[in-house]
Amino acid sequence: MNIMKKYLFVFGRNPDVSLAEAISYFVARNLIYKIELVVEELAIISLDETFFKGKKIISQLGGTVKIGEILSEGDYSDLIPYMGSSSKIKYAVSSYGNPEYTLEFEDYLKSWFKSERIKAQKKKGNLDRLMPKDISSDLIEYLVFGKHIARSVAVSKPAKYKQRDLKRPENDFLKNTSIRLSKMLINLSQVKKKELLLDPFAGTGVILQEAMLSKINVIGVDIDNKTVHSAIKNCGWIKKEYNLKTNFKLIHDDSSNLAKYIESNSIDAVATEPYMGPYLENMITHNAALITSKKLEKMYFSVLSAISKVLKRNAKVVIIVPNFRTKKDGRVTFNFNALLDKLNFEIINLDKSVKFPLVYADSDSKIERQIYVISKK
Ligand SMILES: C[S@@+](CC[C@H](N)C(=O)[O-])C[C@H]1O[C@@H](n2cnc3c(N)ncnc32)[C@H](O)[C@@H]1O
Repeated sequence: MNIMKKYLFVFGRNPDVSLAEAISYFVARNLIYKIELVVEELAIISLDETFFKGKKIISQLGGTVKIGEILSEGDYSDLIPYMGSSSKIKYAVSSYGNPEYTLEFEDYLKSWFKSERIKAQKKKGNLDRLMPKDISSDLIEYLVFGKHIARSVAVSKPAKYKQRDLKRPENDFLKNTSIRLSKMLINLSQVKKKELLLDPFAGTGVILQEAMLSKINVIGVDIDNKTVHSAIKNCGWIKKEYNLKTNFKLIHDDSSNLAKYIESNSIDAVATEPYMGPYLENMITHNAALITSKKLEKMYFSVLSAISKVLKRNAKVVIIVPNFRTKKDGRVTFNFNALLDKLNFEIINLDKSVKFPLVYADSDSKIERQIYVISKK
């Protein structure tokens, strides 16, 4: 029998991508889920409590910053906010909704701790929402969202990402996909442990390394010889550093030729941030964007047609397509849907609350990244 329990997911930037990532993660692992409510960067999701491992989930998701278990959905007058045995605790309340409701709940907490003779010290500061880096392991964090009260059970560890970025032997920050985005792309592909994932634009291999950490075998291709050597060094390093048994292989060539090196029907998933034209210092002009887009369209066509030969049936391809921002809030991209039609690919349907492509961008991004999840028809 399933014991469904409600959890509050707090997402970071680009919350719709984070939600799609979380759903893909559950689907890949056959975890039963139900999206109860989504409001901006927050979602209430029911999951089977028996299989819920908050800390593991959050370490594998790139877009979720906190997970809380819902303690109350309205009347909290009988709520027992702390079940531990300590008589001295530290706590904080992060408000994601009505400040008055939050203050009322804080009063409830204070009187409850007093009545139970628990010395409860509230974390000082003028933050109404704690950032993951401010949450130490001995702190109990309550989350207030509308009339929901939750308690954090897992928070992301951005310092670990930073440490990995610093310790990785070879970096090229103009080419690297961020760890956060890499994880999102990997999860969107629904790849499972021990399967084989391809990144046809491997760069220095951040996507490959993050996949290896999740026990996935990887193949990368890159057109640049020096970059391939960097990726080999980086993948070797992560394997040793984290004592991994996963395999990696790097190929130096144009990805349009990848079917020469990779067996047909052998790839379980593709996750990639392709080359998106020359580095842009400033916003691109409309004409330059049209020229770059045209060139990229050709490259996407030949690489996707090569990928199509090596994919297993139903394998998913997660691929970013650039949408160039030009002056006066213009946008230039190429007709990716027409290209998919020609190559016999289709966009997948994940869940009714998700529609691809999803846009991954900041307000000042020169390129909006459109994330597509596709598979062969
Ligand atoms: C945005 S970077 C990829 C970053 C990478 N996904 C990561 O995880 O860090 C794009 C890479 O594509 C490579 N590239 C460009 N055109 C290519 C082609 N036709 N075939 C293979 N690689 C290509 C570039 O050398 C560059 O390293």
